[in-house]
Amino acid sequence: MKLYEKFADEIAELIRTGVLAPGQKVPSVRHASSTYGVSPSTVFQAYYLLESRGLILARARSGYFVREQARRPLPEPGISAQQAQTSEVDVSELVFSVLGSLKDPGTVPFGSAFPSPDLFPLARLARSMARAVRELSPGAVIADMTEGNADLRRQIALRYMVGGVMLPLDELIVTNGAMEALNLCLQCVTRPGDLVAIEAPAFYATLQVLERLELKAVEIPVHPREGIDLASLAESLQRLPIKACWFMSSLQNPLGASMREEKKRALYELLQRHQVPLIEDDVYAELYFGTQPPWPVKSFDREGLVMHCGSFSKCLAPGYRVGWVAGGRYAEQIRRLKLMTTISPSVPAQAALADYLQHGGYDRHLRRLRHALESQQASMLASAARHFPAETRVTRPSGGYFLWFEFPEQVDSLKLFRLALAQGISLAPGPIFSATRRFGNCARLNHGHPWDAASERAMEVLGRIIGSF
Ligand SMILES: Cc1ncc(COP(=O)(O)O)c(C=O)c1O
Repeated sequence: MKLYEKFADEIAELIRTGVLAPGQKVPSVRHASSTYGVSPSTVFQAYYLLESRGLILARARSGYFVREQARRPLPEPGISAQQAQTSEVDVSELVFSVLGSLKDPGTVPFGSAFPSPDLFPLARLARSMARAVRELSPGAVIADMTEGNADLRRQIALRYMVGGVMLPLDELIVTNGAMEALNLCLQCVTRPGDLVAIEAPAFYATLQVLERLELKAVEIPVHPREGIDLASLAESLQRLPIKACWFMSSLQNPLGASMREEKKRALYELLQRHQVPLIEDDVYAELYFGTQPPWPVKSFDREGLVMHCGSFSKCLAPGYRVGWVAGGRYAEQIRRLKLMTTISPSVPAQAALADYLQHGGYDRHLRRLRHALESQQASMLASAARHFPAETRVTRPSGGYFLWFEFPEQVDSLKLFRLALAQGISLAPGPIFSATRRFGNCARLNHGHPWDAASERAMEVLGRIIGSF
């Protein structure tokens, strides 16, 4: 943690505990700097941070004041109730009806699955695309369909190395987004009727894939901060013939949970004992807020039991449809399945990304993106504390761009979704994240767009609707 963040946290604590009351002036920069022994620029940075979190505001020529409505932060939700039962999956209609209504560009996009396009270096990518297409060798136009672009695969493998995974290049298969990778992995290790362990709540497309492949879900509870409940998983593996697990060990969608390293190791050892493969969906891996990338479960894999799926859709190039899988012992089977279905992602898109990763300043872009997402998260949390009922619970993920809200019991999030949409606000209601339509009083809200007056107004409107149940 940087010094200014530490100092900001100390001031936030004074506000939270009421030592600094709403409306009160916070210490001037000069005063704070000499009292706390930090430089004026550290104090300024801390105050900017607190301002972006909605805790203080600047008044012209008067200094910084505690915001009037700055309220106690909302508490975090607990783990989802124990319910490791098997179930047929039938959510597609509900998911499509929700997704279909998110398309209106005039809507405040809290229900969206993507961050704002303005946060991506699209102009720089376009230059990479132009150069890559100009320089594409005639041979590559065909060869890259089967093998994938060699430069791109090398660049991806280098990023794995930094994240603690030494990956043989032939394990790496470039796919049409992570979605294709995840589908192929599941097809590789299951047959219709098989049981697959998934998270509760889970990314809705996971449920749709299970439904399409006629697989049955075993829902494992997830703690909003610590990730899946290993005891429940161990019990299910003991009792049921589970053929595969599909989990997100970092920045889980929709809860944002990230498992600690020891827990990831324990998960791997459990699966190794049962010889059950893990499909690790890690599409938000680059969006961590700390200083170190979280290591995937794949980093503990010595037997090729983990199929690790990643993507550029969420952090660099939505719409390019380029993802990948490090397929472990299943790599060859996955490669064949891909050749039998879509053959290859677009060769020019792969070449463009390879060029960008080598010359485009990817790490600089990622630092900016993470910083924007972190400050927008603080703004949404502060706004929720101002406008939502005090009994509302909310997650505080250490990355990504989703918050998961648990509203008071009587709130029906499907109804909330319809009422909010009528007012031009989208959200992702809880039941689309469950095979058994649970989480009826929950919703996922996206803070991936720059925070502005329209976002603040939308939170106020949502707060009023939630309060009316
Ligand atoms: C958890 C999760 N996995 C996979 C995907 C799909 O990624 P891609 O766009 O690369 O296919 C998404 C996109 O919403 C996601 O949220």
